[in-house]
Amino acid sequence: MSDLAALATEAASCTRCRLAEGRTQVVFGTGHPSADLLFLGEGPGADEDVAGLPFVGRSGKLLDRMMAEEMGLTRADCYIANMVKCRPPGNRDPRPDEMATCRPWLDAQLEHIDPRVVVTLGNVATRTLLGRPEGITRLRGQAYPWDGRVVVPTYHPSAALRGTLGAMAAMRADLVRAKQALERATSVTIRSRGG
Ligand code: URA
Repeated sequence: MSDLAALATEAASCTRCRLAEGRTQVVFGTGHPSADLLFLGEGPGADEDVAGLPFVGRSGKLLDRMMAEEMGLTRADCYIANMVKCRPPGNRDPRPDEMATCRPWLDAQLEHIDPRVVVTLGNVATRTLLGRPEGITRLRGQAYPWDGRVVVPTYHPSAALRGTLGAMAAMRADLVRAKQALERATSVTIRSRGG
């Protein structure tokens, strides 16, 4: 069993926070175990809670489509995870203490997968990961060096589905930005690995 799979098995019985009480199952994450690109959402919704996989509902379908159209990638090429691994009740945002308690799982995922680029989806993931108070509208539109990686914030696909003005176009532009960051990061890695 790979380290990441062992971690997922361990996480499956986690009871570190109150979200464990209402979940059907832990939604650890899915995708390539050493992906260069990781998408980070906030937390599983009802569909994800049942499926045990992140972004399988309407938001996920949109994410898949945009990933294919703007980056030429499928979810098998990247990794998809959330700030919290269990569904917050009533689809509320995860609370800061829940995200803090769940954070070691995310940190371990980042360590094992070691992605070059992290695309944060929406306010919650972006603010929390970057430790910034501004909203997504302010923070998106650029790439941020973060912990030896690059963070590219964009809107949550649910904002685009709700018809938030400009969100769809902004997401597309951000995914192109992420692709460029990925190309830069991986070509540097290949050059430096090759000496
Ligand atoms: N929204 C999220 O932030 N994550 C999911 O997995 C699904 C919807």
